[in-house]
Amino acid sequence: MASWLGILTRRAFQWPLVVCLCNVIGSELSEPSFIRTVFVEYNDDDSQGHFEFGHALGEAMGDVIHDAWASDTQLQNMEDWIKTQEGRRIFDNLVSNSTRAFPLYSKEIEGMAAGAKIPLQRLLVNQLREELSQWVDAEQKLRRAGHCTDAYAVGPEGTAAWGHNDDWNVYWRKQTYFVIATALDAGGNVKFKFGSWGYPGYLVGMQLNWNSFGLAWTCNSLFPTVFSESGVGTAWVARHMAEARSVEDLVRRAADKRVSTAMNYNIGSVRNKTLWNLEVDTGGVHALQRITTPYVHTNQFKLLNVSQFAEESSAHRQARWEELRPTDVSGLRSFLSDRTDEQWPVWRNGTRGDDCFTEVTGIFDLQRQTLSVWTSPAAARAPEMELSLNFPRLPFVEELFV
Ligand SMILES: *[C@@H]1O[C@H](CO)[C@@H](O)[C@H](O)[C@H]1NC(C)=O
Ligand SMILES: *[C@@H]1O[C@H](CO)[C@@H](O)[C@H](O)[C@H]1NC(C)=O
Ligand SMILES: *[C@@H]1O[C@H](CO)[C@@H](O)[C@H](O)[C@H]1NC(C)=O
Ligand SMILES: *[C@@H]1O[C@H](CO)[C@@H](O)[C@H](O)[C@H]1NC(C)=O
Repeated sequence: MASWLGILTRRAFQWPLVVCLCNVIGSELSEPSFIRTVFVEYNDDDSQGHFEFGHALGEAMGDVIHDAWASDTQLQNMEDWIKTQEGRRIFDNLVSNSTRAFPLYSKEIEGMAAGAKIPLQRLLVNQLREELSQWVDAEQKLRRAGHCTDAYAVGPEGTAAWGHNDDWNVYWRKQTYFVIATALDAGGNVKFKFGSWGYPGYLVGMQLNWNSFGLAWTCNSLFPTVFSESGVGTAWVARHMAEARSVEDLVRRAADKRVSTAMNYNIGSVRNKTLWNLEVDTGGVHALQRITTPYVHTNQFKLLNVSQFAEESSAHRQARWEELRPTDVSGLRSFLSDRTDEQWPVWRNGTRGDDCFTEVTGIFDLQRQTLSVWTSPAAARAPEMELSLNFPRLPFVEELFV
C-alpha cells in the first residue's frame, strides 16, 4: 500500500542517530498525503543529550518548518504582539517559568533552533501558541480557536478505541511529522521510547502520542475564561508527559500545579485497554473519568464546572456526535470524517465561516494496538499510515547505523 521514500541523515557524533522516512501515497490524488517520520536516539541523562535531540529534529525538519512558517500569519501576529509592553512581559514570564520548571526541554528548543537555523525567539513563540492566542485575541481577534475532536468507541466485542481529529487554524496538512524517539542512558542502554505526531517546530508530546510504558494519549484545547499570565506552558507539560510510566503518573504530570492554562487529555492504557478522559484547568485543578461507553470531547469542559468561552464549532460537533454515537472503529471513521453539517463540519477544511483545518485524523485501537492515520477523511479510504504501539524493531534502519 504505502511506498517509503527515505531521507537518511547521519550525525557525526554517536547520539542522536536520525533516520527520516517520508511516507508518500496517493500521488494520483489531487491532494497527495505526506507524512514524514523521524527516528531519533538521544542521551536522556544530560542537558547536552537534550540539546542534541532538539538539534537532530531541527536539522532533519528545518526545511519543513521554514516552509510552514513562511506564510504563517498567526505566528507573525504573535511575534508582533510580544513587541508590546504587555506582550513582552507575559511572554518573558511564560518562558522563564517554563524553563525554570523544565530546563532540559528548553534545551531541546534551543537545539531545534540551532539545527533548523531559526531564531530561538521564533521557536519559543511557537511553543506558546496555545497561551499567546488567549492574549493576542483582544487586539487582533485571534481568539484561541476551537481545535480538535476526540471520540471514543467502547463496544461489546472488546472494542476500545478513540480517534482524534487534530484541527488548527493554519493549513499544515503536508508539513507535519512523526517523531519516534529512543531515550538512552549514559551507557547507551534503552530507557524508554515514545512516538509523537505534532506541528512543525513543536516540542514532542502535544498531539498524538504513545510510549513504551503502554500509554497512548491525545491533547485537545479548552477555553477557560480564567488563565494565567505566567506559569508553565502546555507544550512543556506535554513534553513531560511523554515520559509517564502509568496512567496515574500521566495524570500527575498533566495536572502540574504550575500550568498556565487548561487542556483536555484523552488517554488509553495499551496494557489493560482502559480509556480515560482528563480535564485540567489553569493551575492543575483537574477531573479524571474512566470511559466505558461512547464519549466525545469537542473542546468544552464536561467534567469540571469552569467558566469558559462558548465555541460554535464545538457545539455543532457535539450535536453531530449525539446523532451518530458510534460504537466501533468504522463508526468512528465515519464520525471523524463527517461533513453533513456544512457550516460547522466535524472534518474541517477551512470552508464557510470555519477557519480550521483537520490536519490529521488518528485512531488509537487498543485491541489491535495500532495507530492509524489519515490526512484526508478517514471513512473514504484505507489509512495512509499504520503504526504499531509496541515500537517494533526496524531491522533495515538498525542495520544501517550499527
Ligand atoms: C513564575 O515566575 C515568577 C518570578 O519570575 C514567580 O514569582 C512565579 O511564582 C512563577 N510562577 C510559576 C507558576 O511558576
Ligand atoms: C488499568 O490501569 C489503570 C491505570 O494504571 C488502573 O487505574 C486500572 O485500575 C486498571 N484497570 C484494570 C481493569 O486493571
Ligand atoms: C458551577 O459554578 C457556578 C459558579 O460558581 C455555580 O453557580 C453553579 O451552581 C455550579 N454548577 C454546578 C453544576 O455545580
Ligand atoms: C478541502 O478543500 C480543498 C481546497 O478547497 C479541496 O481541494 C478538497 O477537495 C477539500 N476536501 C474535502 C474532503 O472536502
